[in-house]
Amino acid sequence: MSRNKYFIVVSVVLSFAALLGAQSPAPVSRCFQFTWLGPRWNNESTFLNATCQDATQLSKSVPCFEPLVVSLDGTWPDVEYIWRNHAENASCILAANDVCAQHTYYFDGKVDNSTYLCTRAVNELGAALTSGCYEERKGSFVTRTCFCRSVPGGMPCNSAALANFNILLLLVTTIIWSVNTDLF
Ligand SMILES: *[C@@H]1O[C@H](CO)[C@@H](O)[C@H](O)[C@H]1NC(C)=O
Ligand SMILES: *[C@@H]1O[C@H](CO)[C@@H](O)[C@H](O)[C@H]1NC(C)=O
Ligand SMILES: *[C@@H]1O[C@H](CO)[C@@H](O)[C@H](O)[C@H]1NC(C)=O
Ligand SMILES: *[C@@H]1O[C@H](CO)[C@@H](O)[C@H](O)[C@H]1NC(C)=O
Repeated sequence: MSRNKYFIVVSVVLSFAALLGAQSPAPVSRCFQFTWLGPRWNNESTFLNATCQDATQLSKSVPCFEPLVVSLDGTWPDVEYIWRNHAENASCILAANDVCAQHTYYFDGKVDNSTYLCTRAVNELGAALTSGCYEERKGSFVTRTCFCRSVPGGMPCNSAALANFNILLLLVTTIIWSVNTDLF
C-alpha cells in the first residue's frame, strides 16, 4: 500500500519535471508494429478481411499485430515503403523502458511469418532483453527474436530479416513478453 503511494508520488513528480523540461517536442523513437503473414500469401491470395484472431487461430502464445501485411510476390515486406506510406498505422512509439522486437517463425529452415512490435521482454531468469537476437528451437520449428532500440526521429530499427541487427545469437529456452495490449 505505502509502496504504491510512493510510486505514484514519484511518477507524478517525474512527469511534472518532464513537462517543464519539454520546450519543443523532441522527436520520438518508433518501432515497426505489424505482422507479415509470410510467403504463402501474395497478390493472388483471397483476402477475407483476415484478423490476427484468424491468423493465429486464437493461440494466445503467438504474437500478432494488425495491420496484417502481405507482399505482392510473397517475399519479405518492403519496410521502407511501409515507413513512407503507413508509418502511422504500422508503428508504435517506443517507451523509455521498452524495446523494438522482430519475432520470426521458421519451419524447416524457411521463414513462415514475422511480427514486428514494441514490447518488454525478459529471459527465464528475469533479465531484460534489449539487444541481439535469440533463438528457440523445437525440432523443425525455430523462432528467432531480435531486439533493438530505435534512434529518435529515425526509421524503426526492427526492420529487416536480421540485416540491420547486430547479431549476437543466443539460444534461450523462453522469452517472456509483456505488451500493453491483449492481442497476444
Ligand atoms: C470485409 O469487411 C467489409 C467491411 O467490414 C465487409 O463489407 C465485407 O463484406 C467483408 N468481406 C468479407 C469477404 O468478409
Ligand atoms: C506463424 O507461423 C507459426 C508456425 O511456424 C504459426 O504457429 C503462427 O500461428 C503463425 N503466426 C501468424 C500470425 O500467422
Ligand atoms: C502478382 O504479381 C506478379 C508479379 O509480382 C504478377 O506477375 C502477377 O500478374 C500478379 N497477379 C495479380 C493477380 O495481380
Ligand atoms: C490508418 O488506418 C485508418 C483506419 O484503418 C485508415 O483510415 C487510414 O487511412 C490509415 N492510414 C494510413 C496512412 O495507412
